[in-house]
Amino acid sequence: MTLPDSVRAALEDAAQTIVEATYVTALAGAGMSAESGIPTFRGPGGLWKKYGEPDNLGYQRFLKDPQQWWEERLSENQMPEMREALEKAEPNPGHYALVDLERIGALRHLVTQNVDNLHRAAGSESISEIHGNHTLIRCIKCVRRFRRDEISLDKLPPECPTCDGLLKTDTVMFGEPIPPDVLRRCQEEAALSDCVLILGTSAIVYPAAALPEVARRLNGATLIEINPNETALTEVCDIVVRAPTGEALPELVTAVRRAQGHGEVSGGILEAT
Ligand code: APR
Repeated sequence: MTLPDSVRAALEDAAQTIVEATYVTALAGAGMSAESGIPTFRGPGGLWKKYGEPDNLGYQRFLKDPQQWWEERLSENQMPEMREALEKAEPNPGHYALVDLERIGALRHLVTQNVDNLHRAAGSESISEIHGNHTLIRCIKCVRRFRRDEISLDKLPPECPTCDGLLKTDTVMFGEPIPPDVLRRCQEEAALSDCVLILGTSAIVYPAAALPEVARRLNGATLIEINPNETALTEVCDIVVRAPTGEALPELVTAVRRAQGHGEVSGGILEAT
């Protein structure tokens, strides 16, 4: 990797902070999957630049006529490049690096805004998908989630096999409340964090973007941004790694392992390797 010296220095700082922290979490966004070929929403080439950001009425339209919503969903070919990318995408080195950090105890929980399932495919286990997962179907009444192949779409709208509530795709729509179970877990994790990695997100969509601020307010958390561009949180971040996550995160894992080996794990949770 030909990362500039300034990026390498920031990664060393980040690694030392992670080793000394007691509870590190991460907030991931679309930039994490850019190197897997999935377009981002904002910034150069962003989907919202091409199609315009959806309005906040999508969920109301679903509630008003769920049958029509499902019929449109199953027939339309909206944003074909996104649909094709989601089907073809594979985890990139950034996803696998987060799995490594989790396995060496350097990352306690990952909140992702991405619905592409790539973190799970890479092996992340302690994860909250705050905007849902496109491979799942969710009941809006009991919040139970099903794999797509578990639900018959012969009759629309499909009904929940558990509580006969309405089913929709798990992906959270604009104007739709974040499912309470996932929101609660995200807030709990933020409240425990004394270090938050902010990875590949423009950090402008709430409540996800509030999570690093919650950790900072409650615990004085150190905020570490990894993104090739500035974001809405850059000015409040303590460490900024101006690089793509697919290149920077594997280097961060190497630096954390090195720091673990030599570093005094002061009250941290990491075992020196
Ligand atoms: N590595 C890291 N970050 C990258 C990379 C990369 N290779 N390429 C682009 N980025 C950054 C961009 O600089 C930008 O800051 O990824 C970010 C993408 O921002 P958005 O497109 O706004 O994506 P995100 O922040 O995840 O959007 C949040 O908005 O539309 C909703 O529900 C959607 O979950 C999404 C939410």
